[in-house]
Amino acid sequence: MRYHSLGRIPAKRHVQFRDSETSSNGSAPLLVEEVMGFEGFSGNESILYHLWSPCRVKDVGEFEPIALEEWVPDTHVHRLTDTRGLGPMGDSVLGRRVLQYNNDVELGVCVPEREADYFYRDGEGDEVIFVHEGEGVVETIFGTLPYRTHDYVVIPRGTTYRFRFDTPQKWLTFYTPGEIETPNRYRNRYGQLLEHSPYSQRDFHPPEELETFDEQGEYPVTVRVRDGFQSYMLDRHPFDVVGWDGYVWPYTFNADDFEPRAGRFHLPPPAHQTFQGPNFVICTFAPRMLDWDPEAVTLPYHHSNIQSEEVMFYAAGDYAARKGVDVGFITLHPSGLPHGPQPGAVEKALGKPRTDELAVMWDTFRPLRLAALWEELDKPEYAYSWNPDRAGAAAP
Ligand SMILES: [Fe+2]
Repeated sequence: MRYHSLGRIPAKRHVQFRDSETSSNGSAPLLVEEVMGFEGFSGNESILYHLWSPCRVKDVGEFEPIALEEWVPDTHVHRLTDTRGLGPMGDSVLGRRVLQYNNDVELGVCVPEREADYFYRDGEGDEVIFVHEGEGVVETIFGTLPYRTHDYVVIPRGTTYRFRFDTPQKWLTFYTPGEIETPNRYRNRYGQLLEHSPYSQRDFHPPEELETFDEQGEYPVTVRVRDGFQSYMLDRHPFDVVGWDGYVWPYTFNADDFEPRAGRFHLPPPAHQTFQGPNFVICTFAPRMLDWDPEAVTLPYHHSNIQSEEVMFYAAGDYAARKGVDVGFITLHPSGLPHGPQPGAVEKALGKPRTDELAVMWDTFRPLRLAALWEELDKPEYAYSWNPDRAGAAAP
């Protein structure tokens, strides 16, 4: 991310800085400077100026370990899951239901029933929330971040926040102990996005407004750390920042701002890459023109993704390559097996000038484990969907 700043900050770092709004004669207390940085002091950082020490707690609450139940299927096959029937459950944090995970990334779905009645911070991982449906704001320690349908909301670790909903919500949620970044190949050596990248800095939206709360009361905060949730009670409002600057801040990027690429002949998935994390990528398959040579095959060729797991969420439109797959479905094409369009799909798509599909794909370079929720939503007939003679049969 580029440099950004909101609110009031002093001209130099690490100097005496008082809240000029409450005192013109130098009598106000010194503000508390907090450096929030990655990789010790060698990565990106932001500096925030608080009214009160961010270490201050009133009470230390409970630590709740995260209980994640694994489903180990009996067979290794292509899988399909239907998330459409998932009803509202829980809040914007504890309502996230994990579908898949490994040591690099955890993927869930969330249909929150309500806003969280506490502040939340991921202490050890970056989060991406893909808003399939919903509008609202994320109130954060960096300011207020409005979001809308098809936004990727990217929240770096260390950011205290809470969601405020304007409409009902449906999300995909990503958690990674690594960092969420734009792909290296889209950036020049200074970090600026290159002309050929499918988006520009203008498409990444920082918090819009910083409101400072100098309030006393009871403010619960839950922090995700060490595979669990630690709760605290604060006696000062956690959003007591009067200003900040730096390279670490939450932002939104809307999938509809992804500038899709097409070629005379079919382009591979890296053309759709949006983010990178450790051993995984997130791609946006946006509505686009299809390959334009009269001889072009407009759907993907079969491929053996020997070293990766390919998972795709169908967010909008009509997905031509997959029969029986609708908006709200997720396909999993695991490593070790070839996959491609189902019989008949390629012929049907020939000569089509464009597609209106919107899909979010995540490829992981190490195997994914499935959570018990996948078993509940699994459609075992998908494994046979390439063989018309076995249509409707369910894989064991
Ligand atoms: Fe694929």
